[in-house]
Amino acid sequence: MAEPAAALPSTPSFIQLHQRDPVAVREELLAGLMAPAPFAAPKFLYDALGSRLFDAITELPEYYPTRTEAGIFAAHRDEMAAQVPTGGVLVDLGAGNCAKAARLFDALRPARYVAVDISVDYLRDALGRLQQQHPALPMLGVGLDFSASLALPPQALAPTAQGHNPPPVLFYPGSSIGNFSPPEALRFLRQAHALATGAAQDGAGAGRGGLLIGVDRVKPAGVLEPAYDDPLGVTAAFNRNLLLNINRLAGTDFRPADWDHVAFWNASESRIEMHLQARQQLTVRWENGERRFEPGARIHTEHSYKWQMADFDALLRAAGFRQTRAWTDAEGWFAVFWAQA
Ligand code: AVJ
Repeated sequence: MAEPAAALPSTPSFIQLHQRDPVAVREELLAGLMAPAPFAAPKFLYDALGSRLFDAITELPEYYPTRTEAGIFAAHRDEMAAQVPTGGVLVDLGAGNCAKAARLFDALRPARYVAVDISVDYLRDALGRLQQQHPALPMLGVGLDFSASLALPPQALAPTAQGHNPPPVLFYPGSSIGNFSPPEALRFLRQAHALATGAAQDGAGAGRGGLLIGVDRVKPAGVLEPAYDDPLGVTAAFNRNLLLNINRLAGTDFRPADWDHVAFWNASESRIEMHLQARQQLTVRWENGERRFEPGARIHTEHSYKWQMADFDALLRAAGFRQTRAWTDAEGWFAVFWAQA
């Protein structure tokens, strides 16, 4: 049943989709620790403290992506608004504090704002505050780990209370796409394309929209490496904090002080790699298991892929997007692409 039109003010709705149970999370983490080349998925970097440390990273002089991207949005707002459909459903992927998307509201005049993050708990405060500033804008918070599959609940792209089918405008800023390997990125972009066409709606859904996405570009190692290994040690703390989160989630006994932060540019793979490296021989224990690490042994914690413009454009087209536009900064360090579904 349709809601009465223009019921003011709106209150945000929230949906948590299939949060994984603690046993499965523990098994995932321990499988990574036991692997021949040990690893942990980067999503585990973002517990409460990790999210705060990441926010601190974005303020470091060496960490150029956040402010460079913000500069691109500020400089090209009108041109972007001329490309991106207004009155759409703005779907914010990895919304966090929702601040980046909120800065687009004036230009894009969305009919609905859908904030997606791994846990709906991260969204409650931010969406609640944002709703006060935009009382007439319907808002939906979705808890979803979309690194596995980008499957939104039907409410997200449903017709509005006025019976309109607003085009989906997917927003994926910050170069978070860099955590995906190129084949994973292609798979993700194909899902994004399907959503943006409205194809996920069984034909009854929205008009064609697109994807507005921030992408970090290939640049000299002398710029890249300090951004991921800063002299204040904030990124090192962010990386080591992963061990505290693993202790909590998997019952391990990691001691962060036993591990060095290692970050370097891998030119042949076009990515920054982050690792934690054992300072000496040590054994990590958990219920029914342990793993010995030799001095210098590494746990791989993050990839951050950097893209050439032409390669990313080709990736968007391979994913099915028909038209692309890109904006960049004067130094050519970062890019924002609009890809029309
Ligand atoms: C959130 C994935 C975009 O790769 O730059 C920052 C994460 N890791 N410093 C990035 C990160 C270390 C960040 N992303």
